[in-house]
Amino acid sequence: HRVVIQPVIDSTNQYILNHLAELKKGDLCLSEHQTAGRGRRGRQWLSPFAGQLILSIYWTLNARKPLDGLSLVIGMAIADAIKSAGGKEINLKWPNDLLLNGRKLAGILIEIANRQQDQLNLVIGIGINLSLPKLKAQIDQPWAELCEILPQLDRNELLIRVVKHLYLYLAAFEREGINAVFREKWAETDYYFNKEVNIITEKQTITGINQGIDENGYILIKTKNGELLKFNGGEVSL
Ligand code: BTN
Repeated sequence: HRVVIQPVIDSTNQYILNHLAELKKGDLCLSEHQTAGRGRRGRQWLSPFAGQLILSIYWTLNARKPLDGLSLVIGMAIADAIKSAGGKEINLKWPNDLLLNGRKLAGILIEIANRQQDQLNLVIGIGINLSLPKLKAQIDQPWAELCEILPQLDRNELLIRVVKHLYLYLAAFEREGINAVFREKWAETDYYFNKEVNIITEKQTITGINQGIDENGYILIKTKNGELLKFNGGEVSL
């Protein structure tokens, strides 16, 4: 695979989007510092110099299969990559935040580039906080850095572990979608599994017990009156 390393860039996701014609599935773009890093829901993603593992991957999927669940698989791949390096306290929050002791450690941003017949071209962007010296006051939510638990972990080693896990898990997702292994893994890793949560959608807020995910990656919520509801969007909170 091709690995493009840009010391400074606007956004590694944007790089992949701009260079699709020259890239192949699985190619990577890495950077030390993004000047216009972006997050989900149009938010900004701050990437201080060398403080994060910043990467984007060009991926393709069958456009006729559902995309739901992809972000969960990516989250599980990153969580298992960090666990394989010795970090145990990693959890996930539906649909795609990585948490360390309940605080945000990493984010995932999937952007769809285009569709060519049956092929969906996408970019998977990942930012993992390693050590964020000067930013403490500027981030608007509780955040964590990997150096809290793995201060000796080499960034290149982490990169290799993350990419290996991603290729494996993405291939499994393409074959089988959110299979039983993924659903089980999700239940083990979800910070809010079996807890009472609120799920806030554009239309409503629902409270119930988080029962994990279904074969589409939708979150399952059991309400007080015993109804099992499914959601494929919204924010989860306690
Ligand atoms: C989020 O939690 O809101 C998602 C954050 C995703 C950040 C990564 S860093 C690499 C890639 N390039 C970007 O501009 N964003 C993603």
